[in-house]
Amino acid sequence: MKDTDNKIPIYKINSKEQILEYYTNWTNDNQYNKDMIDWNYIAPSNAVKIFTNHTNNLSQKILDAGCGTGLVGKELKNLGFKNIIGVDFSQDMLDLVPNNIYEKLDLVDLNNSLDYKDNEFDSIICVGTFTYGHVKANALDEFIRITNSNGLICFSINEGIYKKNNFDKKIQELENNKKWEILELEKTSYIVNKDVDAWFCIAKKN
Ligand SMILES: C[S@@+](CC[C@H](N)C(=O)[O-])C[C@H]1O[C@@H](n2cnc3c(N)ncnc32)[C@H](O)[C@@H]1O
Repeated sequence: MKDTDNKIPIYKINSKEQILEYYTNWTNDNQYNKDMIDWNYIAPSNAVKIFTNHTNNLSQKILDAGCGTGLVGKELKNLGFKNIIGVDFSQDMLDLVPNNIYEKLDLVDLNNSLDYKDNEFDSIICVGTFTYGHVKANALDEFIRITNSNGLICFSINEGIYKKNNFDKKIQELENNKKWEILELEKTSYIVNKDVDAWFCIAKKN
């Protein structure tokens, strides 16, 4: 079996404090963005491609959950999407977001209840954030609550935690309970030069 757990050092840490500290160091000298280029991190473009297979409404209000340095927002903005809100729990990552991509940036822990209204967003996109030690599957309940009916929820899940952290069960449970309809769910390449794949899912809220 593939040993995904040992591919990248951050996969070994678990506590919120250690993850935040890791990102503080990783953002020094723009190293996170440099690594994403060197590692051929294709998750943002993969996810945006899946998202735009299902919607072309450029004025919809989109939440980029775990937006980091804005790699997903940048792809969306380049395609003409103009109402994007970014949230992340690392101020150091948010500090590297270029101007003019997001309407607003909020410092938010996605493992907590979210301070947004029911149906507040037309869509949510969440890339690279369902991974080792980061955001748990229960955050999907909040994603559904704050998304409009018929809105899209598009996200990646690192292959190494997909079953271990019960994402497979959670995705199916939400379908069984008619909370959403899964439109696409497939495993594909994610961090090419590290040989790490991810599941990419897009679902429509009922
Ligand atoms: C691998 S980065 C991905 C960032 C961006 N979406 C991208 O694709 O480049 C994961 C992001 O999740 C954020 N994150 C981790 N745990 C979080 C939490 N509990 N709440 C909010 N953001 C979190 C990190 O700060 C980091 O910016």
